[in-house]
Amino acid sequence: MSNWQKAYDMEKYSIILFSILLTFFFACTKEALEENEIENTFSASELEVLHQVLNLKSSPFNYANMEWPFHYTSDEASNSDNTPEDNQISDMGATLGRVLFYDKNLSIDNSISCASCHEQKAAFSDNAKFSEGLNGQLTRRNSMTIINSRYYESASFFWDERASTLEEQALMPIQDHTEMGMELEQLEIKLQELDYYPILFKKAFGSSDVTSNRIAQSLSQFMRSIVSVDSKFDKGFEAAGFPEDEEQMPDFPNFTAQENLGLDIFYRGRNGATCLYCHGTPQHVNDEAKNNGLSSDYTDKGKGEITGNPSHNGLFKVPSLRNIAKTAPYMHDGRFETLMEVINHYSDNVQNHPNLNFRLKDSDDPSPNSEVLRLNLSQAEKEALVAFLHTLTDDTVLTHEKYSDPFK
Ligand code: HEC
Ligand code: HEC
Repeated sequence: MSNWQKAYDMEKYSIILFSILLTFFFACTKEALEENEIENTFSASELEVLHQVLNLKSSPFNYANMEWPFHYTSDEASNSDNTPEDNQISDMGATLGRVLFYDKNLSIDNSISCASCHEQKAAFSDNAKFSEGLNGQLTRRNSMTIINSRYYESASFFWDERASTLEEQALMPIQDHTEMGMELEQLEIKLQELDYYPILFKKAFGSSDVTSNRIAQSLSQFMRSIVSVDSKFDKGFEAAGFPEDEEQMPDFPNFTAQENLGLDIFYRGRNGATCLYCHGTPQHVNDEAKNNGLSSDYTDKGKGEITGNPSHNGLFKVPSLRNIAKTAPYMHDGRFETLMEVINHYSDNVQNHPNLNFRLKDSDDPSPNSEVLRLNLSQAEKEALVAFLHTLTDDTVLTHEKYSDPFK
């Protein structure tokens, strides 16, 4: 055989070998793809088990690839997403989180779920001054909205900011003796024995083991997926565009004159006091606990109780104002029943306190006794500010099935 012939045969064989490899490669990828698709749907036999108690479809809702508007994610909005690298949202993870969130089995006597105190229609808060937990016991503070928890850059949770991540927060109510009263080990065993959890954990995490870490992660995935972007305010913001400086927020074309007057007061304030400074991000939150002058002597010391630092007494988390019209009563102790009472506070009643935030004090006078700034609004201005706060209501997040109770 000539050398030329040998070379030709070699080439022939390599082509054949290459084709075989290629076919094999494509077969594998296809299988991997199909497997992936299978992982992201429930099989008929799995659905049969799930359907005994849950209303879930074969494909989960989209939680992982939501598109948020520019005013949530752009550089100007200083993207403040607190999702950790090791707990990115997946559709199956958030689906498991949704089931856990609504499951009364998370409490010692099967009477309370997270949703008992965080109702979707009340913007994932509730309308009680203090919420009822186990055996009618009341919580110490007013329930908080969970919407937009993803966008607290500091990722501190609770009124006193005692939880430093959402994952850490998620296991605290489960173990709280007033709220759900479970030991974590006891909870893992209990959930493992319910038919639907091994399936849901396998889909979310690749194996059916129920661990408290996975419970925390999936609850957090679900909570981080609850983002409010569909209010009248969002539509106005999109139409008006991002101002270079939020104090320059223009009128919104879709707002009434009254709502625009409220917007003006919110962003530019009156008499030196401005809502913007403490509630001004596009998600209307703030990253630090503050004292907003509710009292000259706080019985609940808030952050000071946790740190023991007297300069933290009376400092409380600044909750998101999104959907605020749905979360009455207001403040950490639910002291105000209506938004008008809240506005009356900022307009006429802010109390001095050594830790009162400087934004509510006369900045030309640095002494602790410097004069308190109050907005001193007219009745029409107060009503306009209330009307503005109502534009933050987002019916999509309050009614969408993906955030609703999946139990039959
Ligand atoms: C009995 C009522 C009750 C139950 C049950 C309950 N919560 Fe809460 N939740 C509250 C109250 C009250 C607060 C504020 C407590 C505080 O700050 O001391 C709160 C605060 C929170 C916060 C903090 C929000 C923020 O912006 O800082 C999150 C998140 C939360 N709860 C999630 C959950 C999850 C998840 C569950 C279920 C595992 C749950 N809650 C169960 C009443 C409840
Ligand atoms: C100095 C910072 C600061 C300023 C300025 C400020 N707030 Fe607040 N706001 C807070 C803090 C802190 C809380 C929570 C206080 C608490 O519960 O003890 C709060 C709570 C609220 C609540 C109740 C939230 C809830 O979930 O219960 C509303 C509504 C509110 N503020 C509206 C406004 C409006 C409207 C303005 C402008 C007139 C304004 N705030 C100005 C810091 C501020």
